[in-house]
Amino acid sequence: MKIGILISGRGSNLKALINACEEPGFRGHIALVISNRPGAAGLDIAKAAGIPTLVIDHKEFTTRETFDAELDRALTKAGVELVCNAGFMRILTDGFVEKWRDRQLNIHPSLLPAFKGLHVHQRALDAGVRITGCTVHFVRPEMDEGPIVAQAAVPVLPGDTAETLAARILEAEHKLYPLALRLVVEGRARVVGEHVVLNDVDGTDIPAPLFMPTLQ
Ligand code: GRF
Repeated sequence: MKIGILISGRGSNLKALINACEEPGFRGHIALVISNRPGAAGLDIAKAAGIPTLVIDHKEFTTRETFDAELDRALTKAGVELVCNAGFMRILTDGFVEKWRDRQLNIHPSLLPAFKGLHVHQRALDAGVRITGCTVHFVRPEMDEGPIVAQAAVPVLPGDTAETLAARILEAEHKLYPLALRLVVEGRARVVGEHVVLNDVDGTDIPAPLFMPTLQ
């Protein structure tokens, strides 16, 4: 399966997905990495791995529709079958999201549906939650909504700041996103009635979301 990855910055999740795709037997291949920001560090990570990159700078477009049309054109031209948002910081139009319905994944650093949007770690601390985590889900027009493929729980520890909590969650993200991507490329994660049904290797259905409290 040909994968396209959308980034805006650092690219640490991109790196985790690149590593996963390099594993023997992984059925996904990253055909293209697109950044909406010319200076995104993730572009260098992709180039170092020999993956084609493209900058589509949103500032050069007057409307979201024309920006998204260019994204779509580039992904389609590269033969992409599955889009992975990995720290992609642009809101996509409903038209783009519907075009890629059930073929676009996102990772969000909270246990959705809690703490959608921005500043999630500080908001989790302010709320006093003891457990937070990260979620990989199929993208829907509403921000940070959509059928959940996999989640990992991460503890909030005494003395945590937004930075220390973000770093702990990011470690879990780097394990969770490759795992979720593997389930999708192997056809083991299907959207049924706006929930994801996971097929175990023996073909039996197991309930989603996959809960991974012991990610270490
Ligand atoms: C991650 O925390 C991801 O969950 C969020 O943005 C951050 C991107 O980090 N959507 P990176 O660019 O993958 O390092």
